[in-house]
Amino acid sequence: MTAELTRLPTYSLTDQHGRPLRSLRISVTDRCNMRCRYCMPENEYVWLPRESILSFEEIDRLVGIFTSLGVGKVRLTGGEPLLRHDLATLVALLRRRALDDLALTTNGILLARYAEELRAAGLDRVTVSLDTLRPARMLEFARSGRHADILEGIAAARAAGLGVKVNAVVIRGYNDDELTELVDYGRHSGVEVRFIEYMDVGGATGWSMDQVVSRAEILAVLEGRYGSVEPIRRTDWAPAERFALPDGTAVGVIASTTAPFCRTCDRGRLTADGTWLLCLYGETGLDLREALRIGSSDEAIAAAIADTWRLRTDRGAEVRAAAPGRGILYQLDSLRADPRREMHTRGG
Ligand code: GTP
Ligand code: 5AD
Ligand code: SF4
Repeated sequence: MTAELTRLPTYSLTDQHGRPLRSLRISVTDRCNMRCRYCMPENEYVWLPRESILSFEEIDRLVGIFTSLGVGKVRLTGGEPLLRHDLATLVALLRRRALDDLALTTNGILLARYAEELRAAGLDRVTVSLDTLRPARMLEFARSGRHADILEGIAAARAAGLGVKVNAVVIRGYNDDELTELVDYGRHSGVEVRFIEYMDVGGATGWSMDQVVSRAEILAVLEGRYGSVEPIRRTDWAPAERFALPDGTAVGVIASTTAPFCRTCDRGRLTADGTWLLCLYGETGLDLREALRIGSSDEAIAAAIADTWRLRTDRGAEVRAAAPGRGILYQLDSLRADPRREMHTRGG
C-alpha cells in the first residue's frame, strides 16, 4: 500500500468558479436491491463486471491522494453500498486517512445487519433514504416490501451510535401528504429528516415539473402545522438548508430543483468503476482506474486530479434549471463509465 501523501500546501486547489475540492462521494457498487421510480435507467440495466469495479485497496489509495489535495469529507454510496461484500473493511481502511467526516448513504434495507460493525470500523454517520411511512406505497413505488427492515435499520444505526439522517424525496401525488408524518417520525426517533425536491435525472423516470414540490411549498406545510419555521444559520456548504421548528426540531430542505446550489459545490464523485466526475450531471470524467492500473504514481495521479479540478466549470443543476428535460445524466458517451448510470451510482 502507498504511504499517505502529506497535504500539499502548494495546491491551493480551486476551480474556475473559485470552488475548492473538499468532498468526495464514492459509489462502491452499481447494484441495488430497490427500484425507485425516480432512479430508473432508460434501458434494462447491465451490471458492471466485477473486474471493472475498484477494489478496496484502489479506493483507499485514491482517498489518500484526494485527502492530500484537501478533501476531508467522504461519503460512500451505491447503487446500494451495503450490497458490497464486507463494506466495513473499506470503512476501517478509510478511517485511517485524514478525514473529518466519513458517511454512508443507504436505502436501509440491510442496515440493521451491519450498523454495529460499520460503527466499530469507524463510520461517523449514515443517511437513510425513506420517502414514505406506508409500506404499501413503498411496494408500489420502489418495488420493495422491506419497509420494516428500513425502520429497524434506522433504529439499529441510532443504537450503534451512528449519526442518522433521513432523506425523503418529495413527489406530488406520491408522498406529499406525508410531510408532517415524516417530521413527527424523525422527532420521535431522534433523526433529522431532510426533504429533497424531486430532480430531473433523465432515464425513464418520467420526471415533470408538476411533480416537484418546491421548498416554498414544503415550508408552508410545515408552518401550517407547527406554527413557525426559522432558518438555522449555515455552517457548511452542504446542499441542505436547515430550519428549526418551535420545539427545536431541525428539518432540512434540499432545493436542488428550484434553487440549485452549484455555486457552492465542492463535491466530486467517483463511480464504482473508477471515473471521477466533477458534477452530478457531469459530462467530464477522469479515468482514475486506468491511472491506477497502468501503475501511475500517487504524485502523477494527484497532479492529474488537481489539473482537472482547476479547469472545472460545471454547474449542472443550474444549467438544467434553465433548460429542463434534457436528460443530461445519460449523455455520457464520451466516458467509459456506463452511460445508463443511476443517480446513486454516481455517488448521488
Ligand atoms: P450531509 O453532509 O449529511 O449534509 O450530506 P449532504 O447534504 O451532501 O446530503 P446527501 O449526501 O444525503 O445528499 C442529499 C441530496 O442532496 C442528494 O440526494 C441529492 O438530491 C442532493 N445532492 C447532493 N449532492 C448534490 C450535488 O452535487 N448536486 C445536486 N444537484 N444535488 C446534490
Ligand atoms: N431526485 C431527488 N433525489 C433523488 N435521489 C435519487 N434520485 C433522485 C431524484 N430523481 C435521492 C435518493 C437518496 C439520495 C442519495 O438521492 O433518494 O436519498
Ligand atoms: Fe432507489 Fe437508491 Fe436503489 Fe436508486 S439506487 S433504486 S434511488 S435505493
